[in-house]
Amino acid sequence: MKKDIKLIAATVVAMGLLASPIASAKEIVIKFSHVTTEATPKGKGAMLFKKLVDERLGGKVRVEVFPSSQLYTDKAVLKALLLNDVQLAAPSLSKFSKYTKQWALFDLPFLFKNPQALNCFTDSAKGQALLGAAERKGIKGLGYWLNGMKQISANHALINPEDAKGLKFRIMSSDVLKAQFEAVNANPQKMAFSEVYNALATGVIDGQENTWSNIRSKKFFEVQKDTTISNHGVLEYALVTNKRFWNNLPTDIRMQLDQIVKEVTVQVTQFALDAAVKDMQTVADSGKTNIHTLTDSQKEQWVSAMKPVWAQFEDQVGKDNIAAVQQCNAKN
Ligand code: LMR
Repeated sequence: MKKDIKLIAATVVAMGLLASPIASAKEIVIKFSHVTTEATPKGKGAMLFKKLVDERLGGKVRVEVFPSSQLYTDKAVLKALLLNDVQLAAPSLSKFSKYTKQWALFDLPFLFKNPQALNCFTDSAKGQALLGAAERKGIKGLGYWLNGMKQISANHALINPEDAKGLKFRIMSSDVLKAQFEAVNANPQKMAFSEVYNALATGVIDGQENTWSNIRSKKFFEVQKDTTISNHGVLEYALVTNKRFWNNLPTDIRMQLDQIVKEVTVQVTQFALDAAVKDMQTVADSGKTNIHTLTDSQKEQWVSAMKPVWAQFEDQVGKDNIAAVQQCNAKN
């Protein structure tokens, strides 16, 4: 009996010795779910992140990327992130209203003059502080990823704000975007990105707003007769993770991942700036949608109609943040 107990004790000790190094050597899996195709700025960013992790942390960390809403819509992905079912996502900042009201700043119509002004703000101390706005809810912002300026489309030319009257426009789930379309007497409808093409094709909605990258990659231009270069808003992403998951990573691994995120973020900016030019050209060359350029006075009418929306949201997003963006506009 004594002998048996000794044997069991020795086995337990041996198993313990064996188990600990195996446990600590276990590969960490990071699932990255997003909604655009691989050929977009975000899609390329996700793949570059995976590549750099493979190169530098192969065997210790494995990244699995799920593009094109294969795994989750943006609404569902944030819930999945909090359950730690996925560890990375990069939804538009417009889609976080359940988790922070402050990121609504990015939806204010005609707030950002151009992508350079947007980058100037996100790189600033105020922009970086804002990146932590959803942390109380367990969502950690790792970086801002650029997509670009939004354009507006429908099945007739949108030259003056009156042209939008009565039309149903798909919007992301943002109350600022809702107010923006109500300001031109249109009917905004919140809808998942993956449903937009069919809704346009079948006439469930009349129009939409998005960047050249999304208009091209999701083929919206094929089902919209007219697209206006409005540059009335921006599409910017927050690369987010589950705060507890990230903070519990071994320090050396977390530091290397933070470094990779920084490098990829710089590249995503370049992917986005390139896409804005190339994708607009592809859409124009297709001849499937008429592209309209606004005169200064036409653009001024859209600004006058939409900008009053700011007053409804300025307390929520911070007047100081709006002022900081305006300083960036002045410099760009
Ligand atoms: C949209 O829903 O229109 C965008 O947020 C999609 C995306 O991720 O670019």
